[in-house]
Amino acid sequence: MMGSKSKLWTEMYDKYVVHTYSTLPVILNDTKSKGVEIWDMDGKKYLDFWAGYSALNLGHHHPETWKVLRNSGLVTRACYDRYLALLGKTISELVGFDAMILPKNSGAEGVESAIKTARMWAYRTGMVSRNQSEIIVMNHNFHGRTITVISFSSEKQYKNDFGPHTPGFIPVDYGDVKNIKKAITSNTIAVLMEPMQGEGGIIIPPVSYLNDVRALCDKHKILLILDEIQTGLGRTGKMFCYEHNGIKPDLLILGKSLCGGTPAILSLVVGRRDIMELWQPGDDGSTFGGNSAAAAVALETFNVLEKENLIKNSAELGEYFKNQLKEIKNPLIKEVRGKGLFIGIEFFPEAGGARKYVNKLIEKGILCKEAHEHVLRISPPLTIGKEHIDFFIEKFKEVLGG
Ligand SMILES: Cc1ncc(COP(=O)(O)O)c(C=O)c1O
Repeated sequence: MMGSKSKLWTEMYDKYVVHTYSTLPVILNDTKSKGVEIWDMDGKKYLDFWAGYSALNLGHHHPETWKVLRNSGLVTRACYDRYLALLGKTISELVGFDAMILPKNSGAEGVESAIKTARMWAYRTGMVSRNQSEIIVMNHNFHGRTITVISFSSEKQYKNDFGPHTPGFIPVDYGDVKNIKKAITSNTIAVLMEPMQGEGGIIIPPVSYLNDVRALCDKHKILLILDEIQTGLGRTGKMFCYEHNGIKPDLLILGKSLCGGTPAILSLVVGRRDIMELWQPGDDGSTFGGNSAAAAVALETFNVLEKENLIKNSAELGEYFKNQLKEIKNPLIKEVRGKGLFIGIEFFPEAGGARKYVNKLIEKGILCKEAHEHVLRISPPLTIGKEHIDFFIEKFKEVLGG
C-alpha cells in the first residue's frame, strides 16, 4: 500500500509524464539509497534485487564513484582528454585484444555505433558494395529503442507503430549456430547478439554456442558483435560474459554500469584496432558521449570492481542464490537459470505472469522486475551479501505460499 506522500507524487507523474513504462507501484527516494538498500518517499525500506536493469552493479551511492563524479567537470569531446585516454588503455587491457574505444551515451546509441562501425568496415575494406550489407541478429533480442535498433526487434509492440524501419538485418532463432549458417550470404558482414539474452527472459544458450558462432564468423571473415551492455562488468560472474567461453568478440558494446551507479552516462563500442582505425574525423560524434566526467567515473568503476572483488562475489553468491532458489519446490516454477548474479525464475503460464510476484515482493520490501511475461529477473548489485539473499528466499517462499 502506498502512503500519502507517494500517492501525491504518483498522481502528478501519471498526469505529466508519458507512460512508456508499466510503472511499478513504488516511488523511490534516491537521495537515501545505499548499497543494496533503498527507501521510498514514505520511508519504507526495500532491498534492491533489480539494480536499475543492471545499471547499479556497484550498488547505490558507491562512495568512490560518487566522489569522482563530484570532483569532475564537463569539457568538450573536441579536445584531448586524459581520462578517456586512460579508459581506452584500461579497457584494451581488460578485453584481451588490441582495442580502441568509441564512446557514446545510452546503450542503444552504443549498439547503433557498433552497427555503423561494422558497415563502415565492410564498405571501406571493399568486402561488400555500399548499402548492401546484412547483419544477422537474433529473435527475442533486446538492444534498445532507437529506430534502427527496433527495426530488428521481434517484439511487435516495440516496432509496429514506428516504421518505416531500417533495412539490412536478418533475424534468426537464438541458440543454434545452424540458423546463422543458413542465413549467411555474400552480403553478410556481422552477427550481432547478446551472449545471454536478458530482457528476452534470461535465456542462456547451449554451452558451446558462442564458440561455434565465433568459429563460423572466423570461417566467413565476418564480425562477431557482442552486446554486453547488461551482461558485462561482472554481472555473470566474469568481467565480460564471453570469458565463460574463452572467445573474444570483434566488437563489444558496453553501457549501463560503466558509470558505477552515478547519473553520469556512458556507452562504448570496444573494437579491434584494425577496424576502429578506419574511422575518420567527422564520421561520427556526440556532444556528451565520452565526456571527461563519465570517463573518470568509468575508470573508478573498474577500480572498485577489482578492489572489492565484486566479480568473484557475483560468481560465488550467484551460485549460492541459484542453488537456494532451486531448492524451492513449487509446482508454479518451471525453471531457475542464471549465470553469476543474473538469474531468471521462469513460471508456468498457470502462475498468472511474473508481474504478479513482482508486486507481491514489493509489498514485502523487495524490488525486482519481470523479464518477458513469465520470468522473474534477479540482478542485484554485485555488492550484495548472503544475508540479503537469505532475506529474498524467505520472502519469496512467503509470496509463493500466500
Ligand atoms: C543488452 C542490452 N542492450 C541494449 C540496451 C539498451 O540500453 P539503453 O537503455 O541504455 O539504451 C539494454 C537495456 O536494457 C540491454 O539490456
